[in-house]
Amino acid sequence: MKAVVADAQDSYSVVDVDLAPPKTGEVLVRMAATGVCHSDLSIINGTIPSPFPTVLGHEGAGVVEEVGEGVTNVSPGDHVILSFIPHCGECFHCVRDEPYLCIVAKQDGNLLDGTTRVSRNGEPVFVMSFLGNMAEYAVAPSISVVPMAKDVPFQAAALIGCGVTTGVGAAVKTAAVRPGSTVAVWGCGGVGLSVVQGARIAGASRIVAVDLSAEKMEMARRFGATDSVTPGGDAVREIFEMTGRIGIDYAFEVIGNPRTIEQCIKVVRRGGTAVLVGVGGAKERFSVSSLVLPLTGKSVIGCMYGSVNTKVDFPLYLDLYRRGRLDLDGMITRTYTLDEAPRAFEDLEKGVNARGVIVHG
Ligand code: APR
Ligand code: ZN
Ligand code: ZN
Repeated sequence: MKAVVADAQDSYSVVDVDLAPPKTGEVLVRMAATGVCHSDLSIINGTIPSPFPTVLGHEGAGVVEEVGEGVTNVSPGDHVILSFIPHCGECFHCVRDEPYLCIVAKQDGNLLDGTTRVSRNGEPVFVMSFLGNMAEYAVAPSISVVPMAKDVPFQAAALIGCGVTTGVGAAVKTAAVRPGSTVAVWGCGGVGLSVVQGARIAGASRIVAVDLSAEKMEMARRFGATDSVTPGGDAVREIFEMTGRIGIDYAFEVIGNPRTIEQCIKVVRRGGTAVLVGVGGAKERFSVSSLVLPLTGKSVIGCMYGSVNTKVDFPLYLDLYRRGRLDLDGMITRTYTLDEAPRAFEDLEKGVNARGVIVHG
């Protein structure tokens, strides 16, 4: 089958690989749609550490073709959304209602049993996030797939697998934005635009979009942003002016840049919350005076996967979509074939799309 494989840092291509059948507790999924997320790019450019070679892809939806022994949650023919974190239901975090932190296995490029089903010329090829679904097929742990209703188009459902769930969940679950509150969102890519939607769904009174690109902030207005800032200007100062010098209730950082993280912490009002969603480099550091947090009562919190409980929240987000409250179709600016993956990454780097999605033929 064809797959997008990163061979080394800054080197990836669409190549032919072999895929072994699912083993016990695994499923074979024929991919219908695969989202192109900044985290895929972060594997390519080395921001997120990964073993190589690896099949990229961690956001997608498709059809179950075959199940291995002992699989009970899905059957062949089921439509599924892939989750980039498995949900074992039994580990320390799963039993404490924190399934988005499930530690059933180390994310080392293999599946749960420590081996991979993908190979090339007999040599193993790793997979991203137990999935590696930027490919025609993926063999994944059954606890990484969630059945979905068949009335929802795959392209829309794919986004639920990472970007939308991370962004919407950051607002409605991680931060639990209160109705009437004020929100700023730094970085209006696929994930940031989803934060904007989550803040709108949560009933925020004011949602300020911050981005270097005027087009992205304009896009954010279509998803519920009420204000934007001057591109390349002093966003912190402008937001202080908008809020009568008080600052904002919640600032979401959805870039992963230490400088914008610092801006978010600064712009939050006394007692407010900065929510860190963007993933930065392992060696990068942001800095806050040790005086600030205790004396202002500000909180800085991390958001992992929108604090999702996939079994509960995936169907919920699909239902919000069905009811027209969560715009998924509007998020898909462009679709690509699998062969066009390099073009999709170029467009992601240029920031021209809300989300690009690979649609499999
Ligand atoms: N100030 C303001 N906006 C910025 C800045 C900056 N210094 N740098 C980048 N941006 C904007 C870009 O213009 C773009 O619109 O941030 C946005 C990032 O969007 P995408 O590249 O589409 O990334 P996305 O897929 O949304 O992911 C964002 O979340 O899940 C993580 O790993 C992911 O860290 C990444 C982040
Ligand atoms: Zn992602
Ligand atoms: Zn678990």
